Amino acid sequence: MNQHCNNKPELKVIKPDSENIGKYCDIIGNIFHLLDRLDIKKSIERFNEQTRLYVFEDKDKYISVAFISPIEIGSILFGGIGGVATRVNYRKQGFAKILLRKVIDDNKNLYQALLLWTRIPGYFSGIGFEDASTYFIDDPNGSIPMMYFYQKKEKMFFGKMAKLPRRYF
Ligand SMILES: CC(C)(COP(=O)(O)OP(=O)(O)OC[C@H]1O[C@@H](n2cnc3c(N)ncnc32)[C@H](O)[C@@H]1OP(=O)(O)O)[C@@H](O)C(=O)NCCC(=O)NCCS
Repeated sequence: MNQHCNNKPELKVIKPDSENIGKYCDIIGNIFHLLDRLDIKKSIERFNEQTRLYVFEDKDKYISVAFISPIEIGSILFGGIGGVATRVNYRKQGFAKILLRKVIDDNKNLYQALLLWTRIPGYFSGIGFEDASTYFIDDPNGSIPMMYFYQKKEKMFFGKMAKLPRRYF
C-alpha cells in the first residue's frame, strides 16, 4: 500500500519561493473573490525575507494556509497576517485554528502584536483577536482590522494614537 495515502495533512512553515508561491496562489484563486484576490496579490508582491507561509499540505496541494509578514505602524512592529483560507472540502476540521494558533505562538518573540483584515470578525475573535476598527479611519463598507496583542502596553499605545489610514498591506 502506498504509505503516502495514509498521511494526515502536515503543517509546514516555509519561506516563500517561486514553487510554493505557485501552490499558495492556487488555493487563494480557488477560494477568494476577485477583489480579495487582488489585495492578496499585492501582499504577495511585498513578501520579503521575513515572510513565512503557514500551510497544511495534503496530496501535494495546500488545503489550509496563511502568511505572516512584518509591518510597522507607529513604533510597533506587527506581524501582518493575510490570506487565511481552507479549501471547502477540508473546512470545520480545525485546520485554520491550528494554523493560526501556531502563527500566534511562533511569532511572540518576533512581533509586538499581530494584525489582519477580515470580513468574518467572529471567527478571529474566537482565536483571541480583537476588533481594532476604532484605531483606523472609518469605512463602513471596508473589512475589519483585528489585532492580537501579546502585551497590554501595546494596546494602550494604540488607544492614544490618531486614527490610522486603513491600508497597510
Ligand atoms: C474562515 C476559514 C479560513 C475557516 O477555516 P476552517 O479550517 O474551516 O476553520 P476551523 O476548522 O478552524 O474552524 C471552523 C469553525 O469556524 C466557524 N466559522 C467559519 N466561518 C465563520 C464565520 N464567517 N464567522 C464565524 N465563524 C466561522 C465554523 O462555523 C466552524 O465552527 P465549528 O468549529 O463550531 O463548527 C474558512 O471558512 C475559509 O477559508 N473561508 C473563506 C476565506 C475567508 O473568509 N478567510 C478569512 C479572510 S481573513
